Amino acid sequence: MASTTLPSTMKTILQVSRQSTELTSTTAPVPTPSHPDDVLVRVHATAPCAGELNWIVMFPDLFPADKELVPGQDVAGTVVSAPAGSGFAPGDRVYGRIHATRAGAARDYTLPRASELAKIPPSLNWIEAAATPLSALTAWQALFVHGTLDAAAVTKNDAAARERNARVRVLITAAGGGVGSWAVQFAALAGAKAVVAVCGPSKEDAVRALGATEVVNYKETSIEEWVAADPAGRECDLVVEMVGGKTLAGCWVAVRAGGALISIHTPPEMGKPAGLEKELAKSLFFIVEPLGSNLAEISELIEAGRVKPTVDSVWEFADYKKAFERLESGHANGKIVIKVSDEA
Ligand SMILES: NC(=O)c1ccc[n+]([C@@H]2O[C@H](COP(=O)([O-])OP(=O)(O)OC[C@H]3O[C@@H](n4cnc5c(N)ncnc54)[C@H](OP(=O)(O)O)[C@@H]3O)[C@@H](O)[C@H]2O)c1
Repeated sequence: MASTTLPSTMKTILQVSRQSTELTSTTAPVPTPSHPDDVLVRVHATAPCAGELNWIVMFPDLFPADKELVPGQDVAGTVVSAPAGSGFAPGDRVYGRIHATRAGAARDYTLPRASELAKIPPSLNWIEAAATPLSALTAWQALFVHGTLDAAAVTKNDAAARERNARVRVLITAAGGGVGSWAVQFAALAGAKAVVAVCGPSKEDAVRALGATEVVNYKETSIEEWVAADPAGRECDLVVEMVGGKTLAGCWVAVRAGGALISIHTPPEMGKPAGLEKELAKSLFFIVEPLGSNLAEISELIEAGRVKPTVDSVWEFADYKKAFERLESGHANGKIVIKVSDEA
């Protein structure tokens, strides 16, 4: 599509201020590429992330003062224009995670950077594509970049990596949520010795279908109680945590001394139970890197039918407030997706 055919204005959702989680919908000018790596994308669907409307208040120094407050950092759409040599061309179906410091994709047109994008695997529709980038990237980086599973078992079918992974018991909290449902699949695919999924009772069947080998129903049994029943058999080498509070405290009990505790919610040391003397090889909090190259690796697994996105629900653009309410209920079964174009 040539830029001359673009409308002058578009619909957009906006957070009303940096201090407020209230959202409104309005019209705004179509954005113009200003960075050398900007790709102009016509958005078909976006997916918000739990807690995203609080990030500016929580981490004010990370966000530029002039950030346009458009939510929905996950984008699935069609390229309108792309820098020469970027690997993308008008008409390409692309998806990706837009860095949280820039405007998101809850609007008709948006500006991901080329480095954040990958081509959408042909088997995914717009909804499934929007459900993928942030959650899949976070799960991947938690297990394979910061965690102790070796991705070569998945990407290269490397036998030595698979053998190493087969010695690693992995525990994943919020296993039925957006990130958790990918983490369960990746850990199973990597050949982990065990994949322990912590989730509520309504998600037990779903997480087992994704590859969980053991399930802890946190509404019935705390993680501490579950470990205490058989510490030697149940402690885990790698724990991926995304709930915080009591759940994080339980993870400190579940991870074995010398193991790894990787959190995407609260820095692990902040949730270490008082008096617990346990040294870990690794304990850290990280923020996902929105890498298109990483997403391209995940796309290959999707296209091969080895992993898939989990969609909780799909919402019309006009129902964006209901979509965020569902998200903030904290009990989503996979991703909540908002349709932006009529094609989604
Ligand atoms: N650091 C980063 O880069 C990064 C990236 C992505 C996400 N995050 C954060 O990670 C968290 C998870 O994100 P998400 O997108 O996966 O959220 P989500 O899809 O909203 O996750 C909801 C899930 O949490 C489960 N849950 C709630 N309380 C639980 C508990 N006590 N124990 C176990 N599971 C529990 C729910 O299961 P039930 O319905 O069964 O209760 C539901 O499946 C959010 O806080 C998000 O902001 C951080």
